[in-house]
Amino acid sequence: MAVVVALVCALIFSVSSLGNALSSNYYDKTCPNAEAAIADAVEKAFANDNKVPAAILRMHFHDCFIRGCDGSVLLKSVGQNTAEKDGPPNVSLHAFYVIDNAKKAVEALCPGVVSCADILALAARDAVVLAGGPTWNVPKGRKDGRVSKAIETRSLPGPAFNILQLQQSFSQRGLSMEDLVALSGGHTLGFSHCSSFEKRIRNFNATHDIDPTMHPSFASACVAFVQQRTG
Ligand code: HEM
Ligand SMILES: *[C@@H]1O[C@H](CO)[C@@H](O)[C@H](O)[C@H]1NC(C)=O
Ligand SMILES: *[C@@H]1O[C@H](CO)[C@@H](O)[C@H](O)[C@H]1NC(C)=O
Repeated sequence: MAVVVALVCALIFSVSSLGNALSSNYYDKTCPNAEAAIADAVEKAFANDNKVPAAILRMHFHDCFIRGCDGSVLLKSVGQNTAEKDGPPNVSLHAFYVIDNAKKAVEALCPGVVSCADILALAARDAVVLAGGPTWNVPKGRKDGRVSKAIETRSLPGPAFNILQLQQSFSQRGLSMEDLVALSGGHTLGFSHCSSFEKRIRNFNATHDIDPTMHPSFASACVAFVQQRTG
């Protein structure tokens, strides 16, 4: 009996996963020029501001880690609801205008067809390529979410996490240690605010003010910056 139930479930899952599956040719008939329009919007923005690729890549990561890659990071706060983009770890979320511009270009081609979640996933890939990084195939067909809550950004991995906490955060999302190592390579791009590492440059532990495992010139630049900021 258990075997029969298992088989029936497996059948239902495989049928439903077929219906919702992402695919490389998802927009081939409904919006064949979407990918080119998105790449163009990212390229134009990059020509003006070389910080764009890092911004879009991080935005994609924050989107995917909360409620899956559903575009929820793009939603604005409305009424009493504070959205993800206004949550605490938004310190270096920026360049939302790039996704807005890509969306406008795509809407002009084929209104109401391409999800914002797909646009962000494609833009992140295009941004990494423009920055000189690797390329990858982006399967499409993500649906946009309608829920975005600032409080849920607490479940993003934090800069003070140790390796076990990082591994746990990734495994909760079905990601392996190998994924963690590979995706941490995202930090090849971009910058950090010294405030994100404040715990490592002030009263680190009983014997060291500064974490001795931090790169010394980076640590002293951060100390100088933080001192200047707080007078
Ligand atoms: C492994 C867990 C991760 C932690 C703890 C983490 C933490 C951080 C922190 C603290 C910053 C600096 C924020 C600031 O002070 O401005 C940052 C920036 C950044 N993160 Fe991560 N991150 C993680 C994973 C990822 C992943 C998976 C990606 C993408 C593949 C990514 C891409 C980026 C990028 C591109 C920036 C620079 C943003 C910019 O310069 O505009 N991060 N991350
Ligand atoms: C980050 O959140 C603050 C409020 O918490 C908000 O004023 C600011 O506009 C947000 N930044 C972005 C890029 O959305
Ligand atoms: C402070 O941290 C350093 C580097 O991790 C370590 O070598 C040292 O033993 C720590 N001191 C205390 C009192 O924990």
